[in-house]
Amino acid sequence: MTASVKSAVFPVAGFGTRVLPATKSIPKEMLPVVDRPLIHYAVTDAVEAGVERIVLVTGRNKGALEDYFDIAYELDRSLEMRGKEEARAAIRAFLLRPGRVLYVRQMEPLGLGHAVWCARHAVADGPFLVVSPDDLIVGETSSARQLIEAHARTGGAVVAAMDVPRAEVGRYGVIDTDSPDGALVPIRGLIEKPAPEAAPSTLAVIAHYLLPPDVFAILEEQQAGAGGEIQLTDAIAALIGRTPVHGLRFSGRRLDCGTTLGWLEANIAMALQHDEYRAAVLGFLKQSEESGAKRAPPV
Ligand code: UTP
Repeated sequence: MTASVKSAVFPVAGFGTRVLPATKSIPKEMLPVVDRPLIHYAVTDAVEAGVERIVLVTGRNKGALEDYFDIAYELDRSLEMRGKEEARAAIRAFLLRPGRVLYVRQMEPLGLGHAVWCARHAVADGPFLVVSPDDLIVGETSSARQLIEAHARTGGAVVAAMDVPRAEVGRYGVIDTDSPDGALVPIRGLIEKPAPEAAPSTLAVIAHYLLPPDVFAILEEQQAGAGGEIQLTDAIAALIGRTPVHGLRFSGRRLDCGTTLGWLEANIAMALQHDEYRAAVLGFLKQSEESGAKRAPPV
């Protein structure tokens, strides 16, 4: 029997420099995709997968994230007075029971591994999810549920994994394995951001993980790795040999909202899946292409 997954950690303390200037004064995780911010998708998936405790690792200038989980009294009252009950109900539906959302401050953005370590006292006993909200995964079954189901089979650590073109491996942690096929791949090594010719495979780690609590002791001792950051990938690599570590080729589509282009693509992809917007967006795209839409002057 594997332990149930009670906590999910959402590291949201990064500066999001690849999406500047949009992220100068709002957190990257508050960027909207269609009609809701990235954090909304990530937390909803975890809650629907049965996770009780939501831990946000925040930093300075991230107040908008905390407000998103709070009652907005003036807004609520205004919607009520104007009879906008549907909007009011939708906003209220997202609110979690008081005490379910915990905030931990990462005082300096020293890397994803460091952010996860900062959550060590907030996470309940047992395995926990880590989800980077800018890696949006959409499909029939959420990545949270898929990771939890995989973990029930394998125990240990499970990382979301995806095949990428070899030329792009340098953007990811890459999996070294003896058996690269199938949905659940046993991992014998992980290399952070390798050169294409040095990559052990083209199976890349996406920032959705299910980790055992042992990872905290490893992170406690860990030094900075690639890019001068304390890398979560290095800590997961250190788990190999102590506990099973698997890559899960998740089903669904991953939309990388950590870059401006990726975020734009995510909005288009999600709008095209949206019953209300699909036809209008398709029409707009077609029309824009035909008219060779004029470029806005540079700002
Ligand atoms: P990224 O690797 O995308 O880093 O972090 P970033 O700082 O947000 O963005 P760039 O690279 O400057 O464009 C992945 C996730 O981990 C969080 C980020 O907020 C994001 O959700 N993170 C990253 C932290 O919480 N702390 C860190 O020190 C680094």
